[in-house]
Amino acid sequence: MRSMLFLTAMFILFGGSKAAASERVDNFRLLDQDHSAHELYYHKNAKAVVLLVTMNGCPIVRNLLPDLRDIRAKFGDEVEFLLINSSLQDTHKSIRQEVAEFGIDFPILVDDAQLIGETLELDRSGEVLVIDTSNWRVAYRGPINDRVGYEIQRNSAKAHYLTDALAAVVAGQTVEVPKREVFGCIINFPERDQKTEHAKISYSETIAPILEDRCVACHRPNAIGPWAMTSYEMIRGFSPMIREVVRTRRMPPWEVDTNLPEIHAARGLTLEERKTLVHWIEAGSPRGIGEDPLLQVKPLENGWLLGEPDLVVEAPPFTVPATGIVEYQYPAIPNPLDRDVWVRAVSIQPGQTKVVHHILVGTSEEVIPIGDQRRDAVFRNYLMAYAPGAESYVYPEGTGVLVKAGGQIHLQVHYTPYGREATDVSKIALYFHDKAPVHNLRQQVVLGFDLQIPSGEARHEERAYFEFDKPAIIYSLFPHAHFRGIETRFDIHMPDGKVEPLLHVPRYDFNWQHNYSLAEPIKVPAGSRLVHRSVYDNSAANPANPDATREVPWGLQSHDEMLYGGFFFRWENGTSKNPVHDELNFQIAQFYGALDDDFSGALTLNEMPPWLSKLFKSGQLDRFNTNKDNALTRSEYRAFADYSAAERAKNSAANVNRQ
Ligand code: HEC
Repeated sequence: MRSMLFLTAMFILFGGSKAAASERVDNFRLLDQDHSAHELYYHKNAKAVVLLVTMNGCPIVRNLLPDLRDIRAKFGDEVEFLLINSSLQDTHKSIRQEVAEFGIDFPILVDDAQLIGETLELDRSGEVLVIDTSNWRVAYRGPINDRVGYEIQRNSAKAHYLTDALAAVVAGQTVEVPKREVFGCIINFPERDQKTEHAKISYSETIAPILEDRCVACHRPNAIGPWAMTSYEMIRGFSPMIREVVRTRRMPPWEVDTNLPEIHAARGLTLEERKTLVHWIEAGSPRGIGEDPLLQVKPLENGWLLGEPDLVVEAPPFTVPATGIVEYQYPAIPNPLDRDVWVRAVSIQPGQTKVVHHILVGTSEEVIPIGDQRRDAVFRNYLMAYAPGAESYVYPEGTGVLVKAGGQIHLQVHYTPYGREATDVSKIALYFHDKAPVHNLRQQVVLGFDLQIPSGEARHEERAYFEFDKPAIIYSLFPHAHFRGIETRFDIHMPDGKVEPLLHVPRYDFNWQHNYSLAEPIKVPAGSRLVHRSVYDNSAANPANPDATREVPWGLQSHDEMLYGGFFFRWENGTSKNPVHDELNFQIAQFYGALDDDFSGALTLNEMPPWLSKLFKSGQLDRFNTNKDNALTRSEYRAFADYSAAERAKNSAANVNRQ
């Protein structure tokens, strides 16, 4: 075995053109030092991807960075440059420190499970791998040049291996010497070449329980996963695919930055679980001894996961055409209840999962006729949002939402045709409290409705905020964007200027919508802002992007974009007996958070929408602009809004009197 390896290595070293036929590099996704996600195959439109192997505290890498920068300056348009750190002792945090200290301006992929380093056979820092994207094979691996060795450094290099290799790959030619010896610090891979050990990982005691914990909820008969984990044979058959989805972090569909506040019922695999699954598969997915626990996996009952509901209502049937775009639907169902109830949980079952993109549910005390008002009716007394990944919401302990007798249950439904006509009847289940809970649960949205995403841009960030005018307690966060959304965050900006990150989703995936419940609800003082930021990839490299040539505006349909950060919270001083509620303040908070681009707290002329700047310029707002500057603060705007509301009330009273 050893001599075979040696022969192969010799062959690669001296094998001339044949050496280009090196191993194909399988796709992977890793998070960088800032927890942003990078996927290898995303860079398919580049000619090559350069990976420089690094580790903290390695002088050779530090010395080589200026050379890598020069090469990037030359090839940066056609080649992607990344660093990769697989060393056991480095963490995201220590890598961030190294980045700051040495001014490193390349993303460093953190291979904390060492799975990628193991298969790329990384050995020493200082090595570069040139991956040819036309076939995903390693076209060159070795040093950048001959300038730096152990304790020697020349002023300039004589041989420019990386430059030569890139010139060849970019020109579609073979690299003459595809592998060279590297000087650098040795990286410890204790689990590499441990196939015999890995073959002892027990399917029945280790692998199957991980799958039961993390995957089976969706991967069982009748559930949303496309195949069911019902036996060892199924797992063995899907093994290569399981390895791929784990290495690319596509499954389970859940990824949050785990350095931030803990998320309740988090679904991600731990680092150990990822390693164990992949090592077991790479060792040939052995069955071993013991019972097969997956034989006990039961189909998902066509029932409610939260138990028997107190009320189930059905949406009116809706037939979704085979193709085309369906405008949002706003059906309303008469509320059959003749008493007021406090809701403690909501669950939604789409009739046709393939066509139901999302459903929002809320109620109103009045009957609201079809028309403009219907569109917002769901937000009057909001209950929850359904999307794959968010089927139910059990409200936080001690909270509930009051649904008054009568009126209507409102839905906002987004249907997406899938090639065959389908008639959907979705069901909504409500669960009631026995008696009124202590607190009213509320829902609001940080909205960035003035977004504008330039065509072709790969990382465009939009942000907006919601300012709490009273102390509040935040329970859960629901980031939402469309096809171009790739990364999303929530932070709290405290009144004293401190910023506390709450949630970071490194790889937002439009196919999955999660309501992230904070394990510990967070209390925020008055004047705090909940800031929602999302990054959009409007380049052609984004496989989900329907049109990279388009400047993308705000819009409800998926080909337009949204910056929509839903959140559930309660007012600290409000109780269900003594609720604090001020609808106008909500609206103004949303309006300011969307338009106040520089986060100054006041709308300047260029931030105002046209109707407002027109009023402002005409002098009609002068008496509200108490500090006489060129902007409107939120309290100044509030005074104007109160005045307008009073005027409207007077006019309508006058109209009634006249009749
Ligand atoms: C929340 C539900 C859910 C969970 C949890 C989940 N999956 Fe999936 N899985 C799906 C769905 C839905 C698809 C189909 C995705 C698609 O077609 O894009 C899928 C697809 C797959 C595929 C096929 C490859 C593909 O992209 O179509 C594999 C393999 C897989 N899952 C493995 C896993 C493993 C392993 C776990 C646990 C570690 C897991 N899944 C957890 C819902 C889930």
